[in-house]
Amino acid sequence: MSAKEQASDLVVPRSVAVIMDGNGRWARTADFERIRGHEKGVDAVRDTVTECAKLGVEALTLYAFSEENWERPKREVSLLMGLLKKFLQSELGTLMDNGVRLVHAGRRARLPSDVLTLLDDTIAKTAGNRGMRLCLAISYGARQELADAVRAIARDVKSGALLPEAVDETTIASRLYQPTLPDPDLLIRTAGEMRVSNFLLWQISYAEIHVAQVCWPDFCKDDLHAAFRDYGRRVRKFGKVL
Ligand code: FPP
Repeated sequence: MSAKEQASDLVVPRSVAVIMDGNGRWARTADFERIRGHEKGVDAVRDTVTECAKLGVEALTLYAFSEENWERPKREVSLLMGLLKKFLQSELGTLMDNGVRLVHAGRRARLPSDVLTLLDDTIAKTAGNRGMRLCLAISYGARQELADAVRAIARDVKSGALLPEAVDETTIASRLYQPTLPDPDLLIRTAGEMRVSNFLLWQISYAEIHVAQVCWPDFCKDDLHAAFRDYGRRVRKFGKVL
């Protein structure tokens, strides 16, 4: 039975975003070093990407490393960068098999050159795929994204390419890191936390929020299906009267 048939009662959102939280707590509970939580988290990333692609999700955005995460201990930052590299190297086959196209959201300036090279290589190698777009938010912060967008708009206004009166919501949306990605319909956060943590502040204006109690390393297909079922029960009004 295909993933689609197995999950025929699910309402599959067009665009999904995930705050993968609780790696550290998972490791502490198991009496492991924090990095083991991140390592196990990579398995959950692989399973979630594959299942979303199979179910027909159009865009999946994963919060892999925030701008604020640079303030973590040097060792954890470098281990996380290593895991990202390893993921990009080892998962190319899975991405290709599932027709997944990789894109990146975030600032490039602080990313190590070897991570950037691998990221750009994988983006280029998967660019011809026509299935789900997987957006990895790395060195990402929503306030920083908005600041970058405002700076780009200010430059265009200064050069005369754009009139101040012409700046509207479409102008701002078009200057975000991945302007062609559909806004998330569903935002999932794991580990029971009810926070948005500087993630996609513009794009989640009308997203439905699902908080899963499990820590990210334990997040499995059933948890994803539970989130989609929860989403299917929501009445979305977009500020209007139905
Ligand atoms: C939050 O858990 C998780 C992160 C900051 C990193 C997420 C990274 C991965 C899942 C692995 C690498 C990603 C990819 C895409 C290959 P936390 O450390 O804040 O957990 P805690 O709040 O329990 O301490």
